[in-house]
Amino acid sequence: MDPTKAHPSRRYNYWLGGKDNFAVDRKSAQVVASAFPTVALSARENRAFLKRVVTHLAGAAGIHQFLDIGTGLPSAGNVHEVAQSIEPTSRIVYVDNDPVVLVHARALLTSEPAGRTAYIQADLRDPDKILANADLARTLDMSRPVALMLVATMHFITDEDDPYDIVRRLLAALPPGSHLVMTHATKDHLTSEQYASSVEANERSGVPFRLRSRAEFSRFFDGLDLLPPGVTSVVEWRPEVPEAERPSVEDVSMLCAVARVP
Ligand SMILES: C[S@@+](CC[C@H](N)C(=O)[O-])C[C@H]1O[C@@H](n2cnc3c(N)ncnc32)[C@H](O)[C@@H]1O
Repeated sequence: MDPTKAHPSRRYNYWLGGKDNFAVDRKSAQVVASAFPTVALSARENRAFLKRVVTHLAGAAGIHQFLDIGTGLPSAGNVHEVAQSIEPTSRIVYVDNDPVVLVHARALLTSEPAGRTAYIQADLRDPDKILANADLARTLDMSRPVALMLVATMHFITDEDDPYDIVRRLLAALPPGSHLVMTHATKDHLTSEQYASSVEANERSGVPFRLRSRAEFSRFFDGLDLLPPGVTSVVEWRPEVPEAERPSVEDVSMLCAVARVP
């Protein structure tokens, strides 16, 4: 682990009010916030979406297997806690590439006895390695539907790493009835000056980052059946609070969608 290099998991932990972050992560967080001051609000709204979507999948949608890539540091409402509170037999495989998440992974392995969880230290940019992992095979039955969770993770995959191919390869391993859940920071609400300043701040922050437009985000879902309300802001995906109490989609600037593999 390189303590002089900021990492997205610890920066996100800082924005969520956690303590598992270093000075270099807080510095990086401040650089991003200098261009996008509502970034901590965006992180909180993203996390609230995560809870709502897992509640829906484990409940009404009847999905009891989750492959959560880009898990982040353990936090309130980890996927297995939410899913197993609805269906105790739920099985979850967590994947992250930050060694500090590995250090804290014990908190992700507190499965209900009827279910199962596993943690894999791996990089999303090598999806075949994730799919070939023995712990994944031991934990998930790949002949039954799986929810592939890529929540606030794909914007760390820049174009050189072919993000669309990564998602395509992961989905190809999942049977019909599986679901793709994704959230992604968007540039749609930024003026050209704000966009330029965000790109510059992201470069300076030490964490590669790619803001995408709604059209670029929607491409990840080509060939899948979008669940209502389709591609939208995390704020507006099946919200539980009245509109007057919700932050603006501009301040959050985070797109999401959930879709079923036909
Ligand atoms: C912003 S956090 C999101 C955490 C959680 N999914 C959520 O939405 O609450 C993004 C996570 O993706 C992980 N990540 C970024 N790039 C990755 C990669 N190439 N492979 C695996 N994980 C990655 C980071 O370490 C971080 O924990």
